[in-house]
Amino acid sequence: MPTVTFTDAQGEQRTVEAAAGDSVMETAVRNGVPGIVAECGGSLSCATCHVFVAEEDLGELPEMEEMEDEMLYGTSEERQENSRLSCQLRLAEDTDLHVTTPETQV
Ligand code: FES
Repeated sequence: MPTVTFTDAQGEQRTVEAAAGDSVMETAVRNGVPGIVAECGGSLSCATCHVFVAEEDLGELPEMEEMEDEMLYGTSEERQENSRLSCQLRLAEDTDLHVTTPETQV
């Protein structure tokens, strides 16, 4: 079963179990994890599901599509090298992902 550990901007951590095939955003929303707004519900049009992925986990993720790349220029907190939109991160059965949520999404 995949797991996702969310660390907020204050350093507070929360690990939740996920379902394979779900996105990191869906996992956050389902578990009431604060820091992910996801205004558009995952249709890649809001950029309020921005996360910073732990460096050691970046290689586990699918390549970024052009649309996600463009949307990342519209995030509230400035984009970094490890920025991704969590609605685009589908979890595999053996994924164990660590992400940090930004100070603000809007
Ligand atoms: Fe809107 Fe990810 S939930 S872009």
